[in-house]
Amino acid sequence: MKKSSIIFRIPKLYSLGIRLLYFGACARLKDMVGNGKKVFEPACGYGRIKKYLDPSCTYSGIDLNEDFINYGKKNGLDLEIGDILKKENYQESDIIILSDILHHLSLENIKKLVSIASKFAKEKIVIIEPVFVDVASGKDFFSKFLAKFFSWVDYDGINNIEKWFSRKDYDALFEELKQKNNFSQMNISFFNYHCFVESII
Ligand SMILES: C[S@@+](CC[C@H](N)C(=O)[O-])C[C@H]1O[C@@H](n2cnc3c(N)ncnc32)[C@H](O)[C@@H]1O
Repeated sequence: MKKSSIIFRIPKLYSLGIRLLYFGACARLKDMVGNGKKVFEPACGYGRIKKYLDPSCTYSGIDLNEDFINYGKKNGLDLEIGDILKKENYQESDIIILSDILHHLSLENIKKLVSIASKFAKEKIVIIEPVFVDVASGKDFFSKFLAKFFSWVDYDGINNIEKWFSRKDYDALFEELKQKNNFSQMNISFFNYHCFVESII
């Protein structure tokens, strides 16, 4: 298998990059998740999301990146190696968070992931996706150049990023996921070039 990009090999480097990209946007998670919830994160990386939750919440996660999982475990987090596309790796939880993972997957695997998550989340699924990648979704030379550059930087060693979503693509995707999984409600909000999608079960 091709080696992942350097940011997926050095958790501290990933952490620095992601903090610059999000610029505090994840602080909203505390309100979206609430207090005393059991939270599970498939594709958790090294578990950076934990620090945005209220301390009364429990947090666990799975990922296939051993460097990230070991780093998170050293920091006392409840993380395990596991494939997010296999339902036997899931735990029933109040909230499932899918942060920065959908755009790594094929459309077929996005649908599979959200379908599995919807069976294990009792209250809601919170999806977080970067929407600034819209600039890499066009057909012109500059967009194509950015698409290649983003795919190189964001290569996780597991998935080849097939396409970068435009805002319209994301809208269509979220609507399809809502219909397919019978979510009773979907709230979409935008902060610092990222979208936060609360899908209520
Ligand atoms: C951009 S990182 C996001 C990490 C974390 N959710 C965050 O917001 O910091 C994407 C993660 O998805 C993981 N991943 C991709 N495909 C996976 C799969 N099939 N099973 C488990 N983890 C996967 C990668 O190893 C990587 O850590």
